[in-house]
Amino acid sequence: MGTRSDAVVLFGVTGDLVSKKLFPALYELVRRGRLSGPVIGVARSPWDDQQLVTAARKAITEAGRQIDEDVFDDLAGRLRMISGDYADPATYQRLTEALADAANPLFYLAIPPAVFDSAVAGLAGAGLAQRGRVVVEKPFGHDLKSARVLSTTLRGVFAEEQIFRIDHYLGKEAVEDIAVFRFGNRLFEPLWNREHIANVQVTLAESFGTQGRAGFYDRVGATRDVLQNHVLQVVALLAMEPPVAGDADSFRNAEAAVLAQMKPLSPETTVRGQYEGYRDEPGVPAGSTTETFVATTVTIENERWAGVPFLLRTGKSLPKTATEVVVEFRQPDQRLIPAENDAEPVANLLRFRLGRADGITMSIQAKNPGVEVTSRPVELSVDFDKALEPRREAYERLLDDAMDGRHLRFAREETIEHEWRVVEPILDLPGELPSYEEGTWGPSEAARLTPVWHTPIG
Ligand code: BG6
Repeated sequence: MGTRSDAVVLFGVTGDLVSKKLFPALYELVRRGRLSGPVIGVARSPWDDQQLVTAARKAITEAGRQIDEDVFDDLAGRLRMISGDYADPATYQRLTEALADAANPLFYLAIPPAVFDSAVAGLAGAGLAQRGRVVVEKPFGHDLKSARVLSTTLRGVFAEEQIFRIDHYLGKEAVEDIAVFRFGNRLFEPLWNREHIANVQVTLAESFGTQGRAGFYDRVGATRDVLQNHVLQVVALLAMEPPVAGDADSFRNAEAAVLAQMKPLSPETTVRGQYEGYRDEPGVPAGSTTETFVATTVTIENERWAGVPFLLRTGKSLPKTATEVVVEFRQPDQRLIPAENDAEPVANLLRFRLGRADGITMSIQAKNPGVEVTSRPVELSVDFDKALEPRREAYERLLDDAMDGRHLRFAREETIEHEWRVVEPILDLPGELPSYEEGTWGPSEAARLTPVWHTPIG
């Protein structure tokens, strides 16, 4: 922690991330009285202050917010635009003037990797790096090697406590709930191991395609876009050992430790695919070999998890949008209670619903009505939006945290490097990708990874 940031500087202010996530988040922070000082946008596009205000209004409206004009006027009054090249020292001179006497600005780098070095060097050259915090977006690098180069660039200018590496899944309340569920309850943690758990499945499914982001997406693909970061972070929370204490460092140590124990993914237990029609989308090069789907198995070589597969899958243009973890428990040792018609009962399933309709659903066996003592699965379920008060969006929480200098919900350098090490063997695999029809669960080959992929219910 430290003094709260008294200015926000958005590099890449004309980009997709700022309009979809950061303007709505800043609006909410103003509404809660959590923002002080100017909000300065930096970009190469020749915008003026008024264009920035117009873009902010459009973004907030499109995010589904009912605009309160007093709140918006407050935000609009803080907006300043600086247009310039990231490599031009004059850009940073103007930024220094706009920051005036701000003592602790937050620099948010929502910019492509190609201009990352210039921006960091520009901030350092203008003497701005010493007095502030820097937020960097994912994907952090393109592979392990480039991630290390980026880290070196960043660490050459900023101290570790000034750096905030975003993985917005860490800002989701439902994702944090995985740790609360495990370590804040007695109920399941004693069962949380290979003795009782048969497999764990994580699905991050999206029913839409690239949504106008093909230029970005085609250079990245499903593995780099979400598997390397969001999905592996979720696995880390599911699989980590109890932290030695409840503070941020202990949590982040436990996460890093389990990531270090994950085996690199194997091409043999990986199926990638591309949805039909992807190559016809504007911005996708003809003959693109970028994967829009990946399914794979990660194993963790430790006492708790040896032999338990963590099955992961993610993709665009799938049947629904849902992020869900399904923990499949082993069957009871003694099969005393058959299902109807002497069938094998369905295993107990514990689902963490992490998407919009977040909550927990547990599937257990109950007495099937009738003379016979047989069982039938029923569900115990909680919807967090009904059971708890409204929760804040991930980006709003993360901006708020970074402005306060709170690191708990940000990724560490070593965490990101482990994530790259794990996915490295399946990046850029050669060969033609199997295709899949839009609205299906990926290529049929994915069925070879597990007898049952549990379909998300959320
Ligand atoms: C982003 C990816 O990091 O996460 C997107 O770049 C993806 O492609 C998004 O759609 C998913 O996030 P959420 O919060 O909508 O599940």
